[in-house]
Amino acid sequence: MTMRKSVVFLLACAALAQALPAQTPPAQTPSRQELESEAVRSMRRIGSMSQLMVHLIYPTSNAVFYIETRTPTTDAEWGELEAKTLMFGEAANLLLMPDRIREPEEQWISDAQLLLAVGRAALRETRNRDVEALANLNDQLYQSCVSCHSHFRGGYGLRPG
Ligand code: HEC
Repeated sequence: MTMRKSVVFLLACAALAQALPAQTPPAQTPSRQELESEAVRSMRRIGSMSQLMVHLIYPTSNAVFYIETRTPTTDAEWGELEAKTLMFGEAANLLLMPDRIREPEEQWISDAQLLLAVGRAALRETRNRDVEALANLNDQLYQSCVSCHSHFRGGYGLRPG
């Protein structure tokens, strides 16, 4: 190539290089849906079912079962109750993690949803400081435990007492 031709050639290359980025497809950014399923796939349980029950769900739900005898009186106590209702409500989400769901899955999911629903209501009534409404949630809360236990807790109801 002559000097002149190669300069033209180089200029053409430079122009092409500049035009290229606009033509290459944008880097593949994952869709919201892909990110969500990736998030779900990466969830790993840390505690056992028994630990979740004994340390998270049982002590925190008790605060609602005993709302009439252990009624919060101060702002700090209402704050503690809020933390507890939040905890057992959110714990229902932990029960819905893929590696915690038990067979038959539909039954498990609907039982966990009972706890989720009553947890949400309990959090709302705690923020309203409505003791009567919280007391009225007791049956629903109790049923959420009993329903799942009758389906999934081995030997449930067989023990004396
Ligand atoms: C979606 C299902 C589900 C719901 C809802 C549920 N549990 Fe459980 N619970 C279980 C299973 C399953 C076990 C048996 C644990 C195991 O398999 O190791 C259990 C066991 C327990 C235990 C005994 C744990 C031990 O090892 O000693 C307690 C206490 C308990 N649950 C409390 C509660 C309370 C209180 C509620 C309601 C506020 C509740 N659970 C709601 C599934 C559930």
